[in-house]
Amino acid sequence: RLSPSILSADFSRLGEEVKEVERSPVDEIHIDVMDGHFVPNISIGPPVIASLREETKLFFDTHLMITHPARYFGAFLNAGADGITCHVETKEAEECINMAKKEGLRAGLAVNPETSIESLYPYLGKVDMFLIMTVHPGFGGQKFMPEVVPKIESLRRSIDDEGADALIQVDGGINKETAGTALDAGAEILVAGSAVFHGDIRRNISELLEIIETHKGKC
Ligand code: DX5
Ligand code: ZN
Repeated sequence: RLSPSILSADFSRLGEEVKEVERSPVDEIHIDVMDGHFVPNISIGPPVIASLREETKLFFDTHLMITHPARYFGAFLNAGADGITCHVETKEAEECINMAKKEGLRAGLAVNPETSIESLYPYLGKVDMFLIMTVHPGFGGQKFMPEVVPKIESLRRSIDDEGADALIQVDGGINKETAGTALDAGAEILVAGSAVFHGDIRRNISELLEIIETHKGKC
């Protein structure tokens, strides 16, 4: 599965670019929210998400790179988020997960490259998805960090051993060259920003989906 990150879209034509994604066989988009505090960048917030909600039925995979995910949860829920992923590094992670579960959203928990994978273990069985960052969060177009691969593998093993029902998503530097590595390590949802929105969106998606298909065959 592929979750195109609109962070790399042309924001002056955001609605059209999302429509272009909709013409491909993907069913979600990844929406990166940054507060200039948890990460050193500011992106988009609830009003933009609410406007996009009018334009598309795609699943909104909302990645909150913000210090207070629980404080702003209601705003993202009302804007039309379908999944909310907060960061384990924040003090409000547990509260945000509980809110997402209560509202029937896909509850995700993200982990930065420098944070230990063990920090996610208490949440096995409590979240629907884990997001492993393969770049330092805050910017699109960075290089995939291969040193994070063992973390994906180790989380894959823990989920399988526990029989937990949680997806593994990876985010950062995913492109035609790195997608296979992430999939082989056990990732199930690939987030891709620049590899989708720079150039021909539909062709980029179809090439990435082909790689995902090939890897499914191998597993
Ligand atoms: C980075 C964001 C990513 C970003 C990925 O902080 O969380 O979702 O959009 O962009 P690429 O795919 O270009 O690395
Ligand atoms: Zn993201």
